[in-house]
Amino acid sequence: GSKAKQIKLVLLGDSGVGKSSIALRFVRGEFNENGETTIGAAYLTKTINCQGCPIKFDIWDTAGQERYHSLAPMYYRGAPAAVVVYDVTNVNSYHKATRWVKELLQQANAMMVIVLAGNKADMVSDTRSTNEDARKFANENKLIFAETSAKTGMHVDDIFAQIGNVIARQ
Ligand code: GTP
Ligand code: MG
Repeated sequence: GSKAKQIKLVLLGDSGVGKSSIALRFVRGEFNENGETTIGAAYLTKTINCQGCPIKFDIWDTAGQERYHSLAPMYYRGAPAAVVVYDVTNVNSYHKATRWVKELLQQANAMMVIVLAGNKADMVSDTRSTNEDARKFANENKLIFAETSAKTGMHVDDIFAQIGNVIARQ
């Protein structure tokens, strides 16, 4: 059979923005209202089909609490993909996300595919104004921008499919 292409992917962002929830939604199709904060990092894996080619994601779901920040390079170094998550209801988490993006642009693989995900989109009726800055920031830095909801599943599978498509073409 055909061997799956492997993609190491790191999830980064402030504590509570929904990194683990996005991973759980993507990998198992589940959502947990009372998920626990991540300690260190968690590893999950899922294989999808991208235009007929199997792609295996090795997902490192990092801990967002500040005390774990210094561990992050171990997970993003050499990784071809990152999903930087913020909470659309929390402007501080957006600022934190922009700092993560800048760190990746300086320290990570130059070819890295970076998604900026505004999560918890289910909590606001109209995200257009909320995410205007984020769209602009994403454009300027050549990021893929997505509004997601780990709760409803909105655009969660999409971001992984988009990453798979971009990397398959590299
Ligand atoms: P750390 O592990 O501490 O870095 O946090 P995290 O980014 O992994 O956040 P986590 O996935 O644990 O989610 C934090 C809380 O937000 C949980 O209570 C989730 O149920 C909730 N949550 C996550 N995603 C969503 C979403 O899309 N919509 C809503 N309404 N709640 C969400
Ligand atoms: Mg977590």
